[in-house]
Amino acid sequence: MVIFMSRYFGVDYYPEHWPRERWEEDARLMEKMGIGLVRMAEFAWAQLEPAAGVYDFDWLDEAIAILARHNIRTILGTPTAAPPAWLIQMYPESLPMDKSGVRQSFGGRHHCCHSNPALRRRVRLLVTAMAKHYGHCKDVIGWQIDNELGNSHDELCFCPSCTDAFQTWLTNKYGDIQTLNAAWGTAFWSQKYDDFSQIPAPMLNVTAHNPSLLLDWRRFCSDLIVHFQHAQAEILREHCHDQFLTHNMMGYADKVNYFHLARDLDFVSQDQYPYYQEDGKTFRNMENLSSALELIRGTKQKNFWVMEQQAGPAGWQCFGPTPAPGQLYLWTCHSIAHGADTVLWFRWRTCTFGTEQYWHGILPHNGTPGRRYRELQRAISDLTPVMEKIQGLGSGAEAAILYSYDQNGALKIQPCHPSLEYRQQVQILYGGLYRRNVMVDFIPESVDFTSYKLLIAPLLTLVTPELCDRLKDYVHEGGTLLLTARSGVHDETGKCISDGDLPHGLSSLCGLIVEDYSTIYDGPVSINWTDRGIFHGSYFCDRIVPDGCRTLACYDNGPFAQTPALTMNTFGKGCVFYLGTFLEQTGSDILAEILLAASGVESVGDAPDGVELCMRIGPDGDYIFVLNHTKHTVPYTPPADWTPLLHAESGLAPYGVHIYLRPHDVSF
Ligand code: GAL
Ligand code: ZN
Repeated sequence: MVIFMSRYFGVDYYPEHWPRERWEEDARLMEKMGIGLVRMAEFAWAQLEPAAGVYDFDWLDEAIAILARHNIRTILGTPTAAPPAWLIQMYPESLPMDKSGVRQSFGGRHHCCHSNPALRRRVRLLVTAMAKHYGHCKDVIGWQIDNELGNSHDELCFCPSCTDAFQTWLTNKYGDIQTLNAAWGTAFWSQKYDDFSQIPAPMLNVTAHNPSLLLDWRRFCSDLIVHFQHAQAEILREHCHDQFLTHNMMGYADKVNYFHLARDLDFVSQDQYPYYQEDGKTFRNMENLSSALELIRGTKQKNFWVMEQQAGPAGWQCFGPTPAPGQLYLWTCHSIAHGADTVLWFRWRTCTFGTEQYWHGILPHNGTPGRRYRELQRAISDLTPVMEKIQGLGSGAEAAILYSYDQNGALKIQPCHPSLEYRQQVQILYGGLYRRNVMVDFIPESVDFTSYKLLIAPLLTLVTPELCDRLKDYVHEGGTLLLTARSGVHDETGKCISDGDLPHGLSSLCGLIVEDYSTIYDGPVSINWTDRGIFHGSYFCDRIVPDGCRTLACYDNGPFAQTPALTMNTFGKGCVFYLGTFLEQTGSDILAEILLAASGVESVGDAPDGVELCMRIGPDGDYIFVLNHTKHTVPYTPPADWTPLLHAESGLAPYGVHIYLRPHDVSF
C-alpha cells in the first residue's frame, strides 16, 4: 500500500486525553491518512507542570517520538491558556476580575489576569523549561504561543494589577496628566485628573465612561495581550533557533489588534469553523468566512496556516449539523484558496469528556475511522500536489479594504445607531466584491496602499492629518477610493473635530461638505440610482452639499430627500466616491460594479450563484479555485485555456471543487 504523507496537512492531537496504549494506533491511522503534522500540548499545563516547579515532559517526549516514527512532526503549544488549579490556589489574585470587581472562578480556560506578576513569572519559568527541553528537538518544527489570545473574556480584567498597568500605559502615552486631560476632554462632568493614579479601569459605574477613556482602555487591553505573547516569544526565540512561532487567531475577534499580535510571529494561523452552534446561533456564511480569511492574510500581508479547521459537527452544549459529504473537503479548499499554506484539522478524535465532547473530530468517540476520515484522506492525497506548487503564492488582489481595530473600537463605544456595526459594514462592502469574485486584501492603515487600484475605507471615523494626506496622495496619483458616512468625525483620541467641515480632513478630497446628518429609525430610506433602480440606505444619512463633486444617486425620501446619497469626485489622476449612508446587499452589489469600472480592478471570472472563484497567483499562471458552496450540482465550464488540475469534470458536484491553472498572458 502506498502511504501518502503530507507536510501540508495535520491534526490537533491530545495524547493526554487517551491511554498511552492508544497512541501508537493513533499515529498509525494518521500516517495511513497522510497526516504529516500534529499540534499538541496547548492546554496541557497541569500535565507538564503537575506541581509548582515540577516539570514532567516524559509523556510528551514519548508522544512526539511515537509520532515521529510515523513520519509526523510536532508543533507545540505553550499551555498558558489553561493555568492549573495549584497555580490558582497559590495565587488567587491571578484570577481575572470582572467589571463589578468580582473575581472569576477557576474552571474553563483563560481564567487568568494577563498582567498578574505571579502568573507572568510562572509562565516565564514554564515556557523557559519547555523551550530548553524542546528547542533542539528535531521532531518539533515550531510553536504556537498560548491559544486564541483574547478568547473567553467578555472583557479582559479589571483587577488592581491591570488598573496599575493601565495607568502606567497612559503615563507612557501622554507623559503628563495635563496632556491626558486635554486629549480626553476631562473638563466634561468634572473628570479632570490631578494624577495618573486617579484614573480608573472602566469598571461598573453609575453611568457611561468617557469614550476617550474607553478607547484607550481597548488599546491598552490589546497591548497587554500583545505583550503577554511577546514575553513568550522572546524566550522561544532565545532557545529555539530553527523552530517557527505562530499563534491561532479567530478571524474577526476584536479584543486584540491582530496586526500588532502578528508582529512577533513568523506567520499567523487561523481557527476556521464554518458551521457551528454557539449561544443558540448557528454560524454559517461563506462570505463572512472568506472575508475573515482575507483579514487573517492581511495581518502580515502574507499567507497563513489554519491551525484548526473544522472536522465534524461542532458546538459545546448544542452542536451544528453534520457536514454533508464533501463539505469538509470544500472548507479545506476554501481556506487554501484564500491563502492557507498548511491546514490542520481540529481535532483528531472526539473527546469523551469535558466541555467539548460534542465538538467532533475526524474520528468519532470510539476512535474508528469513518466517513470523515476517508473524505479528508482523499483531500490530502488530492491536494498535496497542488499545495506543493502554491506555497507562498499570494492573492494578486488589486482591491483592498482598510481594516482598523481602532475604528471598530470607536464605533463599538459610540455606534451612533444601535445597529451600526463596523464589522457588518466591512462585510457588506466586501460582499459586493466577493459576489463578483474579486480578490480583496485587508490591510491596516499603516501600510503603503498605493499599489492597489481600489481602496475601500469603511467608517473612517477616527482620522489624523497624516492619514488624510496619504489618502489624498493615493487618489491624486490615480487611486480609486470609497469613503462612507461617519468619515472624519473624530481625532485619534475620540474627540469630535471642530475646525473645518465634515468629513474633516477629507472634504476637499471628496469635493463636498457634510452639512447635516441624521440617524434613521423608521425603515431604510430609498435611494434613486438613476437608471439602476431603487436601493436602500440604513441607520444613518448625511446631508451632502456638493462642492465640485458629481452626484451619482439621491435620496428619494427621508430627512434629506432629493439630496445626494452617493457622489464621485475626480482628484488628480484618481477619483473618490463618498457614500452618505449604509447600503444593503443589492446596493453594495451595484456599488461594487461602479467601483470596479472606475478602478479597472478585474474579477477572477464569472461563476453561477453560490459558486466562489478565488485565486493565488504564481510565476507561470494563476491557480483558480472553483468552490461550489451549494448542495446542488451546478453547471460550470471554465474558459478553454484553463488547464484542469483537479476534478475538472463538466459541472460542479454538490460542495464540489475544481482547481485550474490559468496561464499568464505571454507578450513578446
Ligand atoms: C477553538 C479552540 C479549541 C477548541 C475549539 C472548539 O476556538 O482553539 O481549543 O476549543 O475552538 O471549541
Ligand atoms: Zn488583571
